[in-house]
Amino acid sequence: MLKDKIEKALNDQVRIEAQSSQIYLAMASWAETEGLGGTAQFLYKHSDEERMHMLKLVQYVNERGGKALIPQLSEPARNYKSLTNLFQTLLDHEVMVSGEINNLVDICLSEKDYTTHNFMQWYVAEQIEEEALARTIMDKLNMIGEDKGGLYLFDRDIENISMVVDTSKQVINTM
Ligand code: FEO
Repeated sequence: MLKDKIEKALNDQVRIEAQSSQIYLAMASWAETEGLGGTAQFLYKHSDEERMHMLKLVQYVNERGGKALIPQLSEPARNYKSLTNLFQTLLDHEVMVSGEINNLVDICLSEKDYTTHNFMQWYVAEQIEEEALARTIMDKLNMIGEDKGGLYLFDRDIENISMVVDTSKQVINTM
């Protein structure tokens, strides 16, 4: 049975993952209407992944005898000034999410809930990957700047960007 404090912290994380999915869905839709098809596909996929992160939490809470709460979400931003602006927002968001995951891990330790602590390790590893990916994308966009040809190639290639995390947890970019 989950302690109340752990259940609440997990439900807070359900909301964060659901909101992340919603934000990336809105980003994908914006990119699609801007003619950035590759970026849109990347973001639709990212939105689906966040939904999966949420679902894992929902099912874990219910399996452990708690009650997962499906939250109301706020409307995400509709527009972005540029691709750089969009991906900086995404990176900032992921850094915030990592902080929240770390807080949750802290709560697990202080409450001596080692099962939930173990469950959360998947999220810790996932955040390392997601932040690294967002930073790689920002590095590329900063290099490209306003160059239209560069942005065209970026949009074409981003669909296939993937990260490989080796056993030593070093993140390798394969774009
Ligand atoms: Fe599920 Fe990107 O945090």
